[in-house]
Amino acid sequence: MKIVLIGSGNVAYHLAKAFHQNDVPLVQVLGRNHEALQEIHAATGFPICTNWEKIENADIYIVAVKDNAIQECAQKIPNKKAWVLHTAGSVSYQEIPEGFQRGVLYPLQTFSKRKTLNYQEIPFFVETEKQEDAERVMQWASLLSPKVMYADENTRRQLHLSAVFACNFTNHLFTLAENICQQNDIPFEYLHPLIFETVDKIKTLSPKDAQTGPAIRNDMPVIEQQLNTLAGRPKEIYQLLTESIIEMYKS
Ligand SMILES: NC(=O)c1ccc[n+]([C@@H]2O[C@H](COP(=O)([O-])OP(=O)(O)OC[C@H]3O[C@@H](n4cnc5c(N)ncnc54)[C@H](OP(=O)(O)O)[C@@H]3O)[C@@H](O)[C@H]2O)c1
Repeated sequence: MKIVLIGSGNVAYHLAKAFHQNDVPLVQVLGRNHEALQEIHAATGFPICTNWEKIENADIYIVAVKDNAIQECAQKIPNKKAWVLHTAGSVSYQEIPEGFQRGVLYPLQTFSKRKTLNYQEIPFFVETEKQEDAERVMQWASLLSPKVMYADENTRRQLHLSAVFACNFTNHLFTLAENICQQNDIPFEYLHPLIFETVDKIKTLSPKDAQTGPAIRNDMPVIEQQLNTLAGRPKEIYQLLTESIIEMYKS
């Protein structure tokens, strides 16, 4: 099975490393950013290329590029009989032009090049245009991780939406917390045990049951005092989240 990976960003970098760790060679990693491709080559030894004219013939093409570039990149794949899978959470497989064997390989994880990952822990969600092909693609995806599941488009979009709340918004809140620490010469590391415990306890408790803080206690003096120290967006976010918590636990 010949595999070409298209892209050189966060996901492409980690997918290449995951294939490498599982002894699955890629015939080529194709992208437009030579420096980023070189990083992938240094980590995996896989051949890299920036010239679309020299795209290798393969059975599977994984298109791990920005959502709005998936169609443009897929269009350039010459082997029309090949499998073409994109890696996006909220994009239809139909973004890949008709004629290919189309599908999705969505890894539910947050990928940053500077952070190592255990690929065996990552759930991969597969969708194929033809239901009867799903098993084959899932079997093939299990070369990357034992956690491979089927998710239709709606399920995958909902997974991605949940991930935006659970990961992207949470991380933004960490950034706002870090800003407060920096403005007051407090090392952000002081918050690490609290952050790790917050995440750890939802393994055994529903997040709804794990909520603490001034909002669930409806502690207006503390809420007012904290609001008075804030301005702009952080103040609006504090207000909105406080209202949401109070409303949820009202009854
Ligand atoms: N990051 C995550 O945590 C994550 C998780 C799951 C799924 N995904 C999905 O995986 C895909 C890739 O995400 P990413 O995080 O790897 O993005 P990224 O780090 O921003 O990298 C995007 C890649 O797309 C390339 N690209 C952008 N426009 C292009 C174009 N017009 N033609 C050719 N290449 C183009 C970029 O090349 P240049 O460097 O030259 O711009 C870069 O290699 C997206 O569909 C995303 O939704 C991401």
